[in-house]
Amino acid sequence: MALSIEPTGQTCGALVRGIDLSEPLSGDALAELRQAWLTHQVIGLPDQQLTPDTLTRFATRLGPNGDDPYLAGLPSNPRVVEVRREPDETTALFAESWHSDWSFLRTPPSATLLYGVEIPPVGGDTMFANLQAACEALSAAQREALSSLNAVHSARNGYSLSGRYSKDDQTRSMKIKSDNSALATRSHPLIRTHPETGKQVLFISPAYTIGIEGMSDEEGGELLRELFAFIERPEFVYQHKWAPKMLTIWDNRSLNHRATGGYEGHRRLLQRVTVGEPTAHA
Ligand code: SIN
Repeated sequence: MALSIEPTGQTCGALVRGIDLSEPLSGDALAELRQAWLTHQVIGLPDQQLTPDTLTRFATRLGPNGDDPYLAGLPSNPRVVEVRREPDETTALFAESWHSDWSFLRTPPSATLLYGVEIPPVGGDTMFANLQAACEALSAAQREALSSLNAVHSARNGYSLSGRYSKDDQTRSMKIKSDNSALATRSHPLIRTHPETGKQVLFISPAYTIGIEGMSDEEGGELLRELFAFIERPEFVYQHKWAPKMLTIWDNRSLNHRATGGYEGHRRLLQRVTVGEPTAHA
């Protein structure tokens, strides 16, 4: 199968056409799609007719089921989480801070799939920051200095009972389950090797990285703030525009992402599925 792949011309991202994900895929088609995703890190597939069940059937071809701590799935298909915001909603925007999904887990997910069900006419773009390009842009000396460090990740600022979401849990249209298991921490190398491509990546985010092992809060915080500002530079950022029926697949191992607002008065509804790390089960 020949896919049509249109790179964004920016730091990452491509639009991919010529494939119908509602149908079972051949091994060749899947391999071609996977390669496009690994190369471009985030791909948008317009005009896909997907139900929660065909979405999860396709996700299963990409890797093992991913965990989704703190988010409730659909009763009819618990793997599918609704990313929903109602027109009049005033709760804190979901996922507005840069992050790589669930990076505080022992084995963070490889991919996230997000399918546009209802897309507002304005706003609501998803931003992506290329952590691989940022890592490559460091000097050899900077990479060397950072390569011995471990970053500490935690969900506490978002999902603990004193976290960003908990005060709105009852009024939010999205089903978030805050709890204090989010206070736990997990370390990962600050420069992580991508398990599939072998590329080096600056694996940190303002949402989930709370410190650096062996450094004081002040020292670690200062270094992290510097690195966060670096990875958010415009040359490493791609702004992804949605359309209804677009499926977007991103690589959590080489990108941060964040949601944006700007669509007050309109509903925004997407369905999300998380894929685990295939190499962890190889
Ligand atoms: C997410 O991080 O899962 C949601 C991103 C978005 O709503 O744009």
